[in-house]
Amino acid sequence: MCGIVGYIGSKPGKDIILRGLEALEYRGYDSAGIALLDGEKSQVFKRIGRVNGLVQEVEDKAGNAGLAIGHTRWATHGGVTVANAHPQMNSDHSIFVVHNGIIENFSELRQKLEGAGYQFESETDTEVVPQLIDYYLKQLPSFTAAFEAALNDVRGAYSIVAISTREPETLYAARLSSPLVIGVGEHENFLASDPSAIMEHTKKVIYLEDYDVAVITKDTVDVHNLKEDKHISPKVELLDYENKQALLGDYPNFMLKEIFEAPAAIRSATLGRAVAEQNVVKLGGLESVLGQLKYIDRIVIVAMGTSYYAGLVAEYLIESLADIPVEVQLASEFNYREEPFSRSTALLAISQSGETADTIAALKKVEDYGVLRLGIVNAVGSTIARMTDAGVYCHAGPEKAVASTKAFVAQVTVLLQVALCLNDGRSKRFKPLIEELNKLPAKAQVILDQADAIKTIAENYADYRDFLFIGRHTGFPAALEGALKVKEISYLHAEGYAAGEMKHGPLAMIDEHFPTFAIATDSPLLEKTYSNIQEIKARKGPVLALATEGNEAIKELCSDVIYIPDTAPETQPILQVIVMQLFAYYIAIKRGNDVDRPRNLAKSVTVE
Ligand code: AGP
Repeated sequence: MCGIVGYIGSKPGKDIILRGLEALEYRGYDSAGIALLDGEKSQVFKRIGRVNGLVQEVEDKAGNAGLAIGHTRWATHGGVTVANAHPQMNSDHSIFVVHNGIIENFSELRQKLEGAGYQFESETDTEVVPQLIDYYLKQLPSFTAAFEAALNDVRGAYSIVAISTREPETLYAARLSSPLVIGVGEHENFLASDPSAIMEHTKKVIYLEDYDVAVITKDTVDVHNLKEDKHISPKVELLDYENKQALLGDYPNFMLKEIFEAPAAIRSATLGRAVAEQNVVKLGGLESVLGQLKYIDRIVIVAMGTSYYAGLVAEYLIESLADIPVEVQLASEFNYREEPFSRSTALLAISQSGETADTIAALKKVEDYGVLRLGIVNAVGSTIARMTDAGVYCHAGPEKAVASTKAFVAQVTVLLQVALCLNDGRSKRFKPLIEELNKLPAKAQVILDQADAIKTIAENYADYRDFLFIGRHTGFPAALEGALKVKEISYLHAEGYAAGEMKHGPLAMIDEHFPTFAIATDSPLLEKTYSNIQEIKARKGPVLALATEGNEAIKELCSDVIYIPDTAPETQPILQVIVMQLFAYYIAIKRGNDVDRPRNLAKSVTVE
């Protein structure tokens, strides 16, 4: 969602901030802004729309100040206006604040400040922060004390960075339930909500924890934890990040690039883990809890969006392979449910970004239950990766397009290995599945090699307004994910359904204007899916089937067929989803949409 970059040093801060904001563009935003401080001289630039709208003005008018902060805003409180863009300021424009997250008690704080004579220029929740700092500065001896006093008043989730003309040699930062990382340089320091914004400058980072307040100069980083009221010795870690993966190369956009990275994602997710020659699955991230896992008799999976659908696939895989009951919940629902939760239940969070607010809240909810908290996360060093007891990285590499593609592929690949690991070699499926995982990258490539044919088919469907995606067994969550891909980037109505549900309602929608994407790959349930397709055809609904190579008969039943290579039932959803990603992608491109940055959406949803 929103993005933050900060810099203190002797280089022109504007360049570092602009580059950083560009690197954060993928997260989704609707306005951008920068504040620069050169001694007591300040400059602020804010614009609606893309960062490149800001570049020219900043380059023309900004000085070479070495203290700077920048922000990309995704509107929550107040519309998309220049006044609501960050940085937000106090009344005399001497304090500048950028903020990610939501300040839940902002109207109460605003009333209090208005009562004290403060006037507000924006509709944002953020504006209370610089005003509050100003309010406390009148009573307290230092900026740090005023900053901390303001933070003590604020309820909600935040990463906040502040600078002031009164302290032109210092960056102030704070974090609560929203990521913030300090980049450590030589006589310069950086701040960012996502390491990708600063990784070209330094690989040395300090991840701030909840309630941490950092006071940063170009040579020092001082961290104080507000909750524990103690100074922290910051731990400097080395970023493990492949820069080239975050670049576009020859692809027209990140979404296509990331779809085409599916074979590499499967390879990385299985490398050194599913070893066919030794007939083992070694998940280093789970080794420390293998003993505990033996006593787990129920797993609750929490996640959102695509990660939730990966969890629904895992439910089938873990239950059948490891014989452990699994329940999958949207983290946003889990957080407000009262349900019995015994110590023998493990909570498993799935997240590409590792920063999804609802999923983080789910992990926090069970913090005191004494249960095992596991994570399947793609972003290395992210909040979820750090707050879980153990877990497995997806290793799909950075995913920049808002619509998740290769991360789903990697998540299901990892979750299948988790199921095998829990199975510990007991099932007859163990060896064949490890072998199949090793063959899967080549099979994914076969699908990608058909991209042109899928494009031709997709373009024929691009003028429909509605789509139904149906599947059975793991094909059901795959259908949900296919429908989500169409919704996100095409802005068309698409629904995912279990094929068996058709007669219970959705069939009423079917006519010649309502096509169905039917997942009909080889399975013991295929004949039942054929019956569903017949019912749809009888109502003149166009049917595009996804079938297993060699199934010629299905052509008689359907308007169009796309084939995937034969694979195990457990690995089918991985291949099925790649086809649906391409299908959604080509529809969206035909409709002229910005596939990397679909309207109204952000890459990682860091507020509730
Ligand atoms: C997927 O295409 C979406 N962008 C979205 O549903 C996403 O999967 C969801 O917000 C969860 O994100 P996470 O995996 O980073 O936690």
